[in-house]
Formats: sequence, C-alpha cells, structure tokens
Amino acid sequence: MSAEPDLDALFAIAQAAQRRAYAPYSRFKVGAAILADDGTIYPGCNVENAAYPVGACAEAGAISAMVAGGARAIRAILIIGDGAELVTPCGACRQRIREFAVPEMPVLIAGPEGIRARFSLAELLPASFGPANLPT
Ligand code: THU
Repeated sequence: MSAEPDLDALFAIAQAAQRRAYAPYSRFKVGAAILADDGTIYPGCNVENAAYPVGACAEAGAISAMVAGGARAIRAILIIGDGAELVTPCGACRQRIREFAVPEMPVLIAGPEGIRARFSLAELLPASFGPANLPT
C-alpha cells in the first residue's frame, strides 16, 4: 500500500454509499469511506430510524464494516454530503474514529463536486482521549 491514499477511489466508494443512504427523515444523505490498514476501502452510509435517536451516522457504519472485515486501523477517512457547508463528522463520530486512528490521520471532507477540505483528526478532536489513555 502506498503512503498516500487513493483519493479517487475513496471518493467514488463514499459517493456510491451516499446514494444508498437511508435518510427518509432528514433527507440528508451522507456517505463515508475508510481506507484501512489492510488496504481495503470500507463504505458506510447513514441509516435513520422512525425512532429518531436510534439513527446511525455514515462514519459509524464504515467503522462497523471495517471491524467486521477484520481491519483495526483507519489510515484515512472521506465523508461526503450535499449542501454548501462542510459535512464534518459529528462529535460522537470524531470519538468513534479516534478509537481506530492516530491524531495525524487525514479526514477528507467532500461535496458532490469533489474534496473540499482536509483536516487531521487532531484538528477536529484536539487533546483527545484514546485507547492509550487507559491503564493496561
Ligand atoms: N450525518 C452523518 O451520517 N454523518 C455526519 O458526519 C453528519 C450527519 C447524518 C446523521 C443524520 O442521519 C443526518 O446526517 C442529518 O443529521
């Protein structure tokens, strides 16, 4: 695997997942794609629920797919949504991502036209609490 993630592949897989999102309540479809340490790209999309708080974010779905696929580390994540604003991960998902990623890990934010912004996880979740904070 090369050091730089294949951004075109991440974008295409996230966009395909976004189109499959189940968002009948917000009508705001989000897609995510994780490049994992096994070199595989794992997709996720938001899946809402008539009991609103039970809905799941795209990032959570991609993390579940990664873990179910046998990988344990996120090398890069791309999130895509519509609208003029950046679709950055919610606070809870920043912490979910942190469980499997180092603070330097790139978080790419895309709209339908392509990648709009790139952050490190540390920029989105400074001074974070992660697995190494727990005593062994
Ligand atoms: N959503 C995500 O899936 N990921 C984000 O990064 C932002 C928000 C979803 C949750 C909900 O289904 C819809 O977008 C509106 O908040």
